[in-house]
Amino acid sequence: VIEFKLQHRSGGATRVQLGAGALSAVAASIPPSGGRALLADRQVAALHAQRLGELAEPRLELEAGEACKSFAQLERALEFLAVQGLERGGTVLSLGGGAALDLAGLAAALYMRGIALVHCPTSLLAMVDAAVGGKAAINLAAGKNLAGAFHHPRAVYMDSETLRSLPPAELASGLGEVVKTALIAGEPLYAQLEREAPALVRAEPAALEPVIEACVRLKARIVASDERDLGPRQVLNLGHTFAHALEREAGYGALPHGIAVAVGLVLALETSARMGVLREPELAPRTAALLERLGLPASLDALRARCACAFEPAALLAAMAHDKKARGGLRLVLPVALGEIARELAPPPGLLEALLAPR
Ligand SMILES: NC(=O)c1ccc[n+]([C@@H]2O[C@H](COP(=O)([O-])OP(=O)(O)OC[C@H]3O[C@@H](n4cnc5c(N)ncnc54)[C@H](O)[C@@H]3O)[C@@H](O)[C@H]2O)c1
Repeated sequence: VIEFKLQHRSGGATRVQLGAGALSAVAASIPPSGGRALLADRQVAALHAQRLGELAEPRLELEAGEACKSFAQLERALEFLAVQGLERGGTVLSLGGGAALDLAGLAAALYMRGIALVHCPTSLLAMVDAAVGGKAAINLAAGKNLAGAFHHPRAVYMDSETLRSLPPAELASGLGEVVKTALIAGEPLYAQLEREAPALVRAEPAALEPVIEACVRLKARIVASDERDLGPRQVLNLGHTFAHALEREAGYGALPHGIAVAVGLVLALETSARMGVLREPELAPRTAALLERLGLPASLDALRARCACAFEPAALLAAMAHDKKARGGLRLVLPVALGEIARELAPPPGLLEALLAPR
């Protein structure tokens, strides 16, 4: 089991335990008094709640996946915490993918103005991304993640055994975010992915665990430099302006987030190359090859073929303009070189239309 501590600028810290069987150690993070309750993705609870031993109860089962990020589910969760008699010193435990963690994180942030939170992510995407960074949100009709709060977990337990039951598309989705992180982190992690691609696709814990650790540490370092997401943290949005537009066009829920991110990375690299920003032109084909080896689409046309969705350039551009990160005209986060990312770059007129057209 790998164990480390993430220190927060705002005070406090998050202890991270990562390895096979990590869920059997969660009790060490729960104080004896104040009460506790588990908020769990229903599908994941059926598969893995027993790994938590007596902490599996009391438990509220949430709608599986993205459907839990609603006011109705948040209300159910808060009422459940109250009925269970949780006090200020109590602890909310989460179990599931990023959606369940977001819902549980927001419930913990709101209940009695904030109580302790312990995350147990069970998807690769939740391990490398959602479990750390302190953001939690639910969706509004107007868009994703529009109602939320900042609330760091006290501890995160990542049990690589749980990844064995992850559907292949969800594993691929997590790997999309991993490739994003490697583009930000630079050569050692990126080359590790190239070396370990076959083992990563087979979800082998020995290959996944060091990669998850590297991703978590990098995200934590960037977040520590900008906890409130005012500037430097935006590099984590590499590929995401494209990805959000693709997800919107596919219809929310139809396209796993990290798969959209994979295509977003390719489009960001191409944009960067066409703008003359990319110092290492070979990084674009190199990344496309890596994505393919990880079972991810490596071009917009490949995604069109996979999804039976036209992804019309005009519709994608309109969706990109709506992205919540678009202030005063579209600005993109773009790679300059492996391990070097620039933000706030404005693509020249016409470039994106050409890039997004079917070839
Ligand atoms: N707060 C943050 O910083 C942050 C960061 C990234 C993503 N997110 C959020 O996370 C969500 C995406 O997370 P996700 O990709 O984990 O999706 P998800 O939570 O919707 O889970 C995807 C599916 O996988 C299932 N699942 C999860 N773990 C499983 C397992 N071990 N075995 C079998 N099935 C399993 C779930 O039931 C669900 O059906 C989005 O809502 C996104 O906004 C938040």
